[in-house]
Amino acid sequence: MDEIVIEAKNISKSYYNGDSDLTVLNNFSIKLNKNEIITITGQSGCGKSTALNILGTLDKPDSGDVIINGNYLNDYDDNQLSSLRNELIGFVFQFHHLLPDFTALENVLIPIWIKNVNQNDNYAMNLFDKLGIGSKINHYPSQLSGGEKSRVSLIRAIINKPIVLLADEPTGNLDKKNSKKLIDLLSKINQDYNQSIILTTHDQDVASLGNRQFLLENGSLIEMRENK
Ligand SMILES: Nc1ncnc2c1ncn2[C@@H]1O[C@H](COP(=O)(O)OP(=O)(O)O)[C@@H](O)[C@H]1O
Ligand SMILES: [Mg+2]
Repeated sequence: MDEIVIEAKNISKSYYNGDSDLTVLNNFSIKLNKNEIITITGQSGCGKSTALNILGTLDKPDSGDVIINGNYLNDYDDNQLSSLRNELIGFVFQFHHLLPDFTALENVLIPIWIKNVNQNDNYAMNLFDKLGIGSKINHYPSQLSGGEKSRVSLIRAIINKPIVLLADEPTGNLDKKNSKKLIDLLSKINQDYNQSIILTTHDQDVASLGNRQFLLENGSLIEMRENK
């Protein structure tokens, strides 16, 4: 049987905007197998970021279960959630959130410093080389192009070898060429490191990266087709 790395069961989530409720997720369920890539498309505002934030423990559902690596998260307090997050989950966002006063290399080492493990920098340097930006480790974010920044944020996301990489419209800010590059790199990371990935996107070409592809509509997922 496939090993499930992350699972959500019957998630609901509403926002209360003044006098009306907006139901964003309703009966939202997903199971991600080890080594698998799932892509989620859907109109702007359909709840893609909300769903990824809940899967990544950045936000809590109103009801339903999130299970990561066999751990039911309902009983976790905020401290436990943040250590689980740092340990098991990597995030890539459309806006990279790189820290401007730190170099590219320092930015990706921050999760390691937080984890307080004694890991040398070789793994990080190898990733920079592998992603074609080995010469940029000492550059500050302001000295990097959009495509380079997205690669740095990808390295930062996987530096702790997370059980799952959550990528929220990671190509949203990139031109076609850099978007293609980033997708190739995600695919390479999936193959070389058995990295499981959930990715949201507007772009059908990007969505085709998924072993399984879903549409998020009316709060829940509809499977598109078997791809690979
Ligand atoms: N913190 C919030 N408070 C109120 N409404 C929100 C909040 N976050 C998101 N929403 C609303 O929830 C819906 C889903 O948002 P989001 O998950 O960001 O969609 P997507 O990522 O698919 O564009 C949108 O209508 C958005 O305006
Ligand atoms: Mg979004």
